[in-house]
Amino acid sequence: MISDATRSAVAELMKHFPEKRGALLPALHLIQRELGHVATETAVEVAELFELHPVQVLEVVRFYNLIYDAPQAQHHVTVCTNLSCSLRGARRLLRQLEAHLGVVAGTATPDGRIHLGHEECLGACAGAPMMRVDERYHEDLDVETAKSILDALE
Ligand code: FES
Repeated sequence: MISDATRSAVAELMKHFPEKRGALLPALHLIQRELGHVATETAVEVAELFELHPVQVLEVVRFYNLIYDAPQAQHHVTVCTNLSCSLRGARRLLRQLEAHLGVVAGTATPDGRIHLGHEECLGACAGAPMMRVDERYHEDLDVETAKSILDALE
């Protein structure tokens, strides 16, 4: 259930847009920060706040890959495997991280600590190869540095 504090923060966000639905995406980030993901029941609550149909909220939740509709691993690690990063070893980096974590890309460690994935260009080509850990970019990576970044995650 969305807390009163988050509801107030969402109401505050709405004031910055000519139509309240303009605040939907940042509101979903706030709500996800509180609840970990945006479940269908939460989407119903959000729809009430925004005077939308729940399907309209779920469409947004399921379109954006940083908004989750189900419980997630504690950390999301995404290695960019597009051209610039691949030319500088990203695919090898991804394979090494799979081996290090004991998972295949697209899955999470059994303890739910880290979900490892890969994506197309994350817009940091000059820092290839790179990975995103939650909301932070790590660039110019080598395998050992990447492993140590993952090992340092709580
Ligand atoms: S190709 Fe990897 S960030 Fe652009």
